[in-house]
Amino acid sequence: DKGNHRHFMQKEIFEQPTVVAQALGRYLDPVAGKVRLPHMPFELATVPKVTLVACGTSYYAALVARYWIEKLARVPVEVDIASEFRYREPVYMDGGLAIFISQSGETADTLAALRHAKAAGQRVATIVNVMGSTMAREADVVLPIHAGAEIGVASTKAFTCQLSVLAALAVDLAAAKGQIDEAQEAAFVQELETAPKLMAQVLANDEAIEEIARAIAPARDVLFVGRGIHFPIAMEGALKLKEISYIHAEGYAAGELKHGPIALIDENVPVIGIAPNDELIDKTVSNLQEIMARQGKVILLSDNAESEAEGMFARLEMPSAGELVTPILYAIPVQLLAYYAAVEKGTDVDQPRNLAKSVTVE
Ligand code: F6R
Repeated sequence: DKGNHRHFMQKEIFEQPTVVAQALGRYLDPVAGKVRLPHMPFELATVPKVTLVACGTSYYAALVARYWIEKLARVPVEVDIASEFRYREPVYMDGGLAIFISQSGETADTLAALRHAKAAGQRVATIVNVMGSTMAREADVVLPIHAGAEIGVASTKAFTCQLSVLAALAVDLAAAKGQIDEAQEAAFVQELETAPKLMAQVLANDEAIEEIARAIAPARDVLFVGRGIHFPIAMEGALKLKEISYIHAEGYAAGELKHGPIALIDENVPVIGIAPNDELIDKTVSNLQEIMARQGKVILLSDNAESEAEGMFARLEMPSAGELVTPILYAIPVQLLAYYAAVEKGTDVDQPRNLAKSVTVE
């Protein structure tokens, strides 16, 4: 049931504050200021390395998690696309934790990678939405995302719920490793608890995003750029736009533009800059100025009102948040840009051509 929404994808985008609150509710104890993960048949403190494997949007969730886990827990993280992972003969470490992220729990490549890690004696966890799925059955530990059924082929609420679970895991691992103390853990729990309210604020800005989406809908190519933890969000934005509006899009690390892709820029190429007010904002904004100097149409998503707006095509004001919450927040406007661009073009939003919800061939 789509309720009063035109498409399942739109319904699922707007459900996100509710389902993220639901997911966080299962993993956080705000009163104690602690993360509570399901029982694991091993001590997290003994994990020497984390391997994250997934496909598509779930892979971008893994890329975000790498920043969180390495920064907070100081545990080395390897991330790979499932269809590449086992063919490169990955080097496992004794006692390593391999985590397979999949909305459906049935993606053939991710499942094959899970079996590969299990056969190699790794500790195997899975982050899934579908609890009865094959991956949930075969993993040693299951971390459900509690997003509810996702019907739209393009993944939206599963992504932000995956990020919520991965953020909780990063904090728990950091605590287990003694990298953060109780007060810091409580502060992170409190920060995560703010996510649903801030997500609702972003969604309330829907009309501004729709207007920007209409402006980019005629473009042939669109670039999404970000740095650090928001580079994977740029890639996720590009994937969403490609798959449902059929506009060619690429997600790039902002600092890489001048190493090639800037040659593409002219007045017909919109560039979406994902630039929260963190320690990287000045660098990202300076990359965006290089784009504007070449007539690129820059659209800035930021919470920094002071950042140089002159010459920009559009700006979207975002709420401010900490580093565990910003990737979750910035996922929303890129989903909505793709959604409204697709609606503008009249494509089949919930059933894009050539795509299936669950990819069961390798
Ligand atoms: C993109 C999308 C796909 C899936 C990918 C993995 O919007 O939905 O890229 O993320 O096919 O699917 P799961 O998470 O079910 O393994």
